[in-house]
Amino acid sequence: MKLILAGNWKNYPESPEEAINLLSALARRAKIFKKLSTFIIPPAVYLGSAAKKIKSFAYLGSQDVFFSGDSTVTGAVTADMLRNLGAKAVIIGHSERRRLGETNQVVSEKVKTALKSGLIPIVCVGEEVHDSEGNYFELLNEQIRSSLEGVRRKDDAHKIIVAYEPVWAIGRRAKEAMQPTELSQMVIYIKKVLTEVFGRDSAGRMPILYGGSVEPSNAKDLVTSTGIKGFLVGHASLEAKSFGEIAQALLK
Ligand code: 13P
Repeated sequence: MKLILAGNWKNYPESPEEAINLLSALARRAKIFKKLSTFIIPPAVYLGSAAKKIKSFAYLGSQDVFFSGDSTVTGAVTADMLRNLGAKAVIIGHSERRRLGETNQVVSEKVKTALKSGLIPIVCVGEEVHDSEGNYFELLNEQIRSSLEGVRRKDDAHKIIVAYEPVWAIGRRAKEAMQPTELSQMVIYIKKVLTEVFGRDSAGRMPILYGGSVEPSNAKDLVTSTGIKGFLVGHASLEAKSFGEIAQALLK
């Protein structure tokens, strides 16, 4: 299986012209992105242009989805709409949305809605603080179980990508990201929880990504012997050069 590189643009850039420029710069590096399972995940307003531009070298992803597929709600973007636009995946439960009040229960509804429409849910989990008593293990355990509640063990679990994003490591510089030794421990723990919930077979097929200040300078160390299957990149995905360098690091 190819390693996964997902670029979460968050709420950037601010104009369609800049978005098109970024997409064109990424397209110039198509060759490297094709060697991975690359996902470009722009703000909703740019999904249409991105769908056309990235077709030959990356998959399209959405940053969110409405939790229900069958109600009429102003402003909602449904999973079917995203799928019909060409999206392949959707980020669900990013900490920046959880901070706005998105609960584990809402996350699990979104996961099931996405699966029903054939979208791959990229489900974000991660602790706010990495306390010295290790309370974050219990928090993560609960977050994973509740966020994936009701997901069918045999039919659906293996279609999910888990993105481990420790909140304290998001939006910083490479040296403030999680260290590889610590990341290995967290990956083992997440795999243990997934195995308890979904069984060894399904859990073994669920890729775990890391996100939180991944930059070209720390990408290689973070992927080497930590057990992760790729990255969910924030700020470094807003420049084609650094995103391309992270891709290169994954391939080494
Ligand atoms: P940064 O790479 O900017 O830390 O963001 C990580 C993230 O939140 C990706 O979803």
